[in-house]
Amino acid sequence: MRLQLCTWPEVEAYLEKSTGIIMPIGSAEQHGPTGFIGTDAICPELIAGSIAENIEVMIAPTINVGMAQHHLGFPGSMALRPTTLIAVIRDCVFSLARNGFDRFFFINGHGGNTPSLQAAFSEIYAERSFHADGGGSPQVRCSFANWWKIKSVKKIADEMFGAGEGFHATPSEVALTYYGYPEDAERVHTAKLDPKRAPVGPIYDAEDYRRRFPDGRIGSDPALATPEIGAKLLSVAAAELQGDYEALLKED
Ligand code: NI
Repeated sequence: MRLQLCTWPEVEAYLEKSTGIIMPIGSAEQHGPTGFIGTDAICPELIAGSIAENIEVMIAPTINVGMAQHHLGFPGSMALRPTTLIAVIRDCVFSLARNGFDRFFFINGHGGNTPSLQAAFSEIYAERSFHADGGGSPQVRCSFANWWKIKSVKKIADEMFGAGEGFHATPSEVALTYYGYPEDAERVHTAKLDPKRAPVGPIYDAEDYRRRFPDGRIGSDPALATPEIGAKLLSVAAAELQGDYEALLKED
């Protein structure tokens, strides 16, 4: 069930049965010459959608912009500062908690969001922790998974892409988006990648990033991405993360 396509009475009825929700979170940032700006948001959204085909679960609107300051040297990239993203995550959780949601499972598509997710969860828990009586704040549990790091996805990425997986604009994430949006993939997938495998190095600010990684990729060869591999990645990611979500619901 997509929250955005539900009426409020439907959400109220869902809350009678479950208080869990999946929160896709991504980024709007360059993904090299052959990857979509929305890659990091599209991947978790597709995975969440696939889980929802299998079990009755509410899917929140995707948080489409993330902590991506280092990508701002490339047109189309958008970023929230860590402090802004922490506030966004916190307000989204408390909005939903206000009316009864209490288990929040974030499927994250962007490594740069990780510290902000962790900090946001601590801010959320702190609202209660600083008051012996909870301070009127709802008691919630939040958890997140970086989909590209989970066991079943890593296994396929290792087998199919080896060192070509790299670190940014990876064939795994590009493959998943190509599976989800084949017509747009058709338009962009033939752009030239030179060198074949992108350089690797540290990440600092946007200007330095563009100097080190001129076409935007880090260590990856996204030419290895195919929609077929994308379909496979989607199915294993959905299966594994469904298990993680169900475990969060069952926690005592
Ligand atoms: Ni990405």
